[in-house]
Amino acid sequence: MRESVSYAIHDGIAVVTIDSPPVNAMDQTMRAGLKKTFIALRGQSEVKAIVLACVGKTFVAGADIKEFDTGIAEPGYHEVLRLIEDSAVPVVAAVHGTALGGGVEITLACHYRVAHAGARFGLPELSLGIIPGAGGTQRLPRAVALEVALDMMLTGKPLAAGKALEAGLVDAVTEGEIVPAAIGFARELVQKGAGPRRTREQAVKGAAQAGELLTAKRAQMAKTMRNRLAPLALIDAVQAAVTLDFDQGLQVESSLSAQLEQATEARALRHLFYAEREVRKIPGLARDIAPRAVARVGIVGSGTMGGGIAMCCVNAAIPVTLVDATQQNLERGLATIRKNYQRSVERGSLKAEQMEQRLALITPSLDFGALAQADLIIEAVFENLTLKKEIFAKLDAVAKPGAILGTNTSTLDIDEIAAVTRRPQDVIGLHFFSPANVMQLLEIVQAGRTAPDVVVTALELAKRIKKTGVVAKVCYGFIGNRMMDPYGREAERCVLEGATPAEVDSALEQWGMAMGILAVYDMAGVDIGHLTRLERAHLLPKDPSFYRPSAMLCERGWIGQKAGRGYYRYDGAERNRTPDPEVIAMLADEARRLDIPQRHPDATEIQQRCLYAMINEGALLLEEGIALRASDIDVVYTAGYGFPRYRGGPMFYADTLGLKTVYEGILAFQKTLDPQYWQPAPLLKKLALSGSSFAQWQAEQTK
Ligand code: CAA
Repeated sequence: MRESVSYAIHDGIAVVTIDSPPVNAMDQTMRAGLKKTFIALRGQSEVKAIVLACVGKTFVAGADIKEFDTGIAEPGYHEVLRLIEDSAVPVVAAVHGTALGGGVEITLACHYRVAHAGARFGLPELSLGIIPGAGGTQRLPRAVALEVALDMMLTGKPLAAGKALEAGLVDAVTEGEIVPAAIGFARELVQKGAGPRRTREQAVKGAAQAGELLTAKRAQMAKTMRNRLAPLALIDAVQAAVTLDFDQGLQVESSLSAQLEQATEARALRHLFYAEREVRKIPGLARDIAPRAVARVGIVGSGTMGGGIAMCCVNAAIPVTLVDATQQNLERGLATIRKNYQRSVERGSLKAEQMEQRLALITPSLDFGALAQADLIIEAVFENLTLKKEIFAKLDAVAKPGAILGTNTSTLDIDEIAAVTRRPQDVIGLHFFSPANVMQLLEIVQAGRTAPDVVVTALELAKRIKKTGVVAKVCYGFIGNRMMDPYGREAERCVLEGATPAEVDSALEQWGMAMGILAVYDMAGVDIGHLTRLERAHLLPKDPSFYRPSAMLCERGWIGQKAGRGYYRYDGAERNRTPDPEVIAMLADEARRLDIPQRHPDATEIQQRCLYAMINEGALLLEEGIALRASDIDVVYTAGYGFPRYRGGPMFYADTLGLKTVYEGILAFQKTLDPQYWQPAPLLKKLALSGSSFAQWQAEQTK
């Protein structure tokens, strides 16, 4: 096996170099290499100090995440880090790029830290459902103030080199080359006769105020990180740092880590870590297909969607031509973009001059001809097939050869849209989520004739504008909205069966959804889904209760937050949602009229009905080939639909329940509820009866 650690001695300073592409993750080979190296250096009397550095784009980006699935092999983190810390001569970490997780923990085992000005130090373990497990919970509060340490570990937000210097995490920052700077620093230590400064021998900084701080953080985590294990375990570990000696504290950290690593929460979050990287690899697409160059983007429609997409592009320094039909629309659109940026400036997350630079990258125009220079044109007008077809015919006339034509439809048939052009190979769906400048997900819809390099370009664009791009094929609603349909159907049906809107939403929120679906409808506008259903009425079930509550609200003009009322009332300055007795009475009357039995579904039933219906639809999408992988569905739902990451996405969640449980649940609902909706997807049935899982099925498909 290739060695990933080597060393060379320059005039009394040993430089230990880690080289393990792509991100220097600390796997078993690296740990073994560090162990061998630090043992070898122990016996060399000419070595007066040691510099620990990495080659490649970054310092160590943490533990090798894959090892958590298989178990950590010997030598363990503690053994290796203790060897480094025990060195009799000073050890200086030379940090560039992103020192993450175990990467920060190695630097804490070193005696001194020198950072490149662009370096960042982060502890993202909570986002993986674990806590720093290589001594980080014990050493960090000894290196920086307890409050800073807790903040770094609870938020996962990396500290830039300058801030790390202020916090005392690093001793020096250099604008120049990192290794020579660290060697210079080490030489000065030797000249001064400074010996090792072991973090474990320091006292916790701010231990006197720890009680109050930890209690406050515990309360905050219980509220903001509901249903999670790792945040509270992290606070327990830090409490151990405050109350116990270093070695006892380390034992507490180890035992908490061992429990967390195999818990469903951590398995779910690891699953998403892999899944979010897997989405870029499209089965059947050669890895060497080059993306088309995108130097300028054209956008048609300057409403909420078009404006948000324009912001995504200019945030990534891609110039935009923004076209709309009227001057008034354009002005309104630009004013909204400016207002959004202004808010970031007021919050301090953007400088005023950056705002101006970004706005200057947008060229507004009333003329479709202005799109002739664009390499990619994204249509973002009202969701109406006839209108979109008209626009695509016009785009076909003005766009340059090879330009990509994207449609931001959320449901429509992209093959039909592509068919009005002479270049269906250049047409693709680019489904952004509102607000586009904030939401993480980009559904990339490959139509029947979309060329492979157009798909690759869309994936590349997603990365450039910092979105998670997931490829889907054409069907009504693609992955996300198609699965929302049965989920929402059950929520709507539950309110006709006597659960109140607040009961339905709170059941879903308690389970972990960011927002209950009925409150989501109110936020997005109840009319949006309703209008789509009216257009597709001929394709929908002939069931009079199907999405009836939404229809009734629309008939009354109670279309959600924008009208001040929908499923809830939004009164007062705060516009908080409050139950609306009139809506509850309206639903009860309608249930009587439709002769719907009042089952009063409880929270568990509401959760199961909504989620099983969603999972079943997901299984259909896999069979139809609309979604390429079960894990892609999980990425869509966690990145775009407020599905709790710690449950891994709907398909992973189904696997954790066991597909037999889901299948049998659906059969039970078939008996007690409307059987037309409760037909198990053939794939779900097959996997459930053979004791398999979506993950196993996916592994077999991609073998
Ligand atoms: N372990 C294993 N593989 C990793 C990895 C890790 N820690 N970090 C990245 N990789 C892999 C990715 O899976 C990817 O593989 P493929 O090319 O096969 O898909 C490859 O490295 C490149 O990664 P990215 O595509 O993410 O590259 P990027 O340049 O966009 O981002 C990064 C680089 C910021 C380091 C990002 O990869 C990242 O955030 N990694 C995770 C860091 C992390 O969470 N570290 C903490 C680990 S837990 C820990 O350390 C616990 C402990 O206490 C010991």
